[in-house]
Amino acid sequence: MKLWGGRFEKATSGLVDDFHSSISFDQRLAALDITGSIAHATMLGEQGIIPDADARAIVAGLQGILRDVEAGRVQFEQDAEDIHMNVEKILTERIGEAGKRLHTGRSRNDQVALDCRMYVKQAAAEAVTYLRALCETLLGIARQHAESIMPGYTHLQRAQPVTLGHHMMAYFQMFSRDMQRMKEVYHHADVCPLGCGALAGTTYPLNRERTAELLGFASISLNSLDAVSDRDFVCDYLYAASACMMHLSRFCEELILWNSHEFKFVEMDDGFATGSSIMPQKKNPDVAELIRGKTGRVYGDLIGLLTTLKGLPLTYNKDMQEDKEGLFDARDTLVKSLMVFTAMLSTCTFRTENMARSAEGGFTNATDAADYLVKKGMPFRDAHAVIGHLVLHCVKENKAILDLSLEELKAFSPLFDADVYDACSMRACVTLRDVPGGPAPGRVRETIAAGEAFLDAFEI
Ligand code: ARG
Repeated sequence: MKLWGGRFEKATSGLVDDFHSSISFDQRLAALDITGSIAHATMLGEQGIIPDADARAIVAGLQGILRDVEAGRVQFEQDAEDIHMNVEKILTERIGEAGKRLHTGRSRNDQVALDCRMYVKQAAAEAVTYLRALCETLLGIARQHAESIMPGYTHLQRAQPVTLGHHMMAYFQMFSRDMQRMKEVYHHADVCPLGCGALAGTTYPLNRERTAELLGFASISLNSLDAVSDRDFVCDYLYAASACMMHLSRFCEELILWNSHEFKFVEMDDGFATGSSIMPQKKNPDVAELIRGKTGRVYGDLIGLLTTLKGLPLTYNKDMQEDKEGLFDARDTLVKSLMVFTAMLSTCTFRTENMARSAEGGFTNATDAADYLVKKGMPFRDAHAVIGHLVLHCVKENKAILDLSLEELKAFSPLFDADVYDACSMRACVTLRDVPGGPAPGRVRETIAAGEAFLDAFEI
């Protein structure tokens, strides 16, 4: 007999039982569900809505179930449909009549909204912990390489020299934004829906603030219809996770390129690369590829839920049960990706000599050569044309700009002088880009200090 079986004359088809049961995946919410029920029962007792002795029996019973769940001693039943009814059933089996009073003034609709909110709060806080570790790793590399010159790219063509430290700090910005986004997700989820019932609240004198306080929520929801039909906070988490995966994926793409024979900017640790079953020479960056690949499934989780929600009339509809698997999948994928990525990055060896050589070879000082002429009085547009001709000449001669003698340079503009060799060196190109947010080593150190302060001050 189903918990809701009173109104039915026939048993549910076996096909339906199998189809709509969610216990196979929502049992992941067991501990949170029980914690929510303990708070609800405590409040019911305090308010005199159920007898005090029953409230105490329920709380003790639930605490016992929680212990057994944590020890892996509880077997859930598919027949009991979902985690909420499984817990209630086990409780009543264990403590008898009192257990039947737990669901007073509550619906699975506010209950599942509560469980999901608690889950998202945990998941967001956990993401922040892993992001913090990644940000610290980035700061470490940036500190070490604030002076290590590498080419900066646009269109995957060498553009202007930067430093490896500057490049790492670009990712620091992205992941620190991810931390902030996760913090916002946490606060959006931090609203307690309990007491909103199925959709229209309840006739019992519940103390909603009290349950919220017992569960550590910052506030209570202000509209019962919205409270049971809102999954924005899940979408928020999925978007924050998607953005973070996107950042990881771009970084992975760069590491894959840099690890290639063509770039040789980085050497991945053997522990984070894999071999080929046929080609003995191979050392493949599979871990980075897999993170890049898994980004798609997290996007899928986001788009899936947005699509599920788009046509739903208020309030709860069973479609909403589809929120959980995507959420769990995104959380697992994000956590695993962040963990393995941070470990992989911290064991990479950066081949700074190859980076510096590559910067030298790609006309990355062409803008600086034009700026040099501008500083000698030439209008920028003219200088651009002069250096364009100069580069074309160098390409044909297979030379870098500064390989030319002063005489050869003067043939392109009489404004060239002996000081051009210092003014357009790689070191000067980087050092002279001394604007806030720029790659000059002093500026990068400023950003590193700001990053350290950000991490020190950051809390959820
Ligand atoms: N298992 C359901 C879910 O995940 C719980 C809420 C069910 N409510 C209902 N009225 N059918 O959404």
